[in-house]
Amino acid sequence: MKEECRILAVSGSPRNGATVKATRICLEAAEEIPGIKTEFINLANKQINCCINCNGCFRNKDGRCAAFNDDFLEEYLYLYASCDALILASPIYEMSLTGLLSNFISRLRPIAEKARSGAFDMRFGASIAVGGMRNGGQDTTLSTINRKLQTLSINVVGGGVQFYNGAAVWSKNQKDFDDEKGILELQVLGRKIAYLTKAMRCGVDYMKDEIRDYNYAGFNSREQMNDIYKKIGL
Ligand SMILES: Cc1cc2nc3c(=O)[nH]c(=O)nc-3n(C[C@H](O)[C@H](O)[C@H](O)COP(=O)(O)O)c2cc1C
Repeated sequence: MKEECRILAVSGSPRNGATVKATRICLEAAEEIPGIKTEFINLANKQINCCINCNGCFRNKDGRCAAFNDDFLEEYLYLYASCDALILASPIYEMSLTGLLSNFISRLRPIAEKARSGAFDMRFGASIAVGGMRNGGQDTTLSTINRKLQTLSINVVGGGVQFYNGAAVWSKNQKDFDDEKGILELQVLGRKIAYLTKAMRCGVDYMKDEIRDYNYAGFNSREQMNDIYKKIGL
């Protein structure tokens, strides 16, 4: 296996509060598994614009946003492109994720072409939602984040038979929450994505002589992949 597997987590709260705490609990549990290293992008106090679809990043092919010079750091693209798994965490705003996290995801566009190659199709992802209410939209938020992970070609990991969509936290609007069930879900999810990521990485290494990126994307050859993408306007 490659020396270590890297799990990247992004907290989409505009402040340092319950979502940052939840993300750290999940990452600490993931780090219990030998060979797992974690990285954390905390979006608290960051001003990140939404992608405006100018496609300058595609035309320039320099892996950069052509429209904005804001708090979205180039380093984020590097961390995202090089991680083995991705955890997205958000406080619940109106039963969904924050605009901040959604904007962050939209700004991954400069490396969208890499996703099309199949290079990201062997990665796992998981979601965390933190709400002030007991039933304030944890499941709707987790579902929406999971769908976003799928747009990134990432395979969604839930909690299996214990909780389905991802880790749901009830903060009671406290930054330092004490939701026992939520903490358990965060820890189980962290360990689960860590074990799966490690197993996937070992499998990928084991099969390195017989399998290519386009296979992970569901194609037998690069030509077949390019042909089909052309037909659907990509
Ligand atoms: C604009 C706004 C909308 C919110 N909407 C919801 C909601 O729909 N459901 C819910 O349970 N909590 C809602 N909350 C409460 C937050 O999700 C909750 O306080 C959360 O713990 C904040 O996390 P943070 O400390 O990481 O910012 C909302 C808070 C704000 C500021």
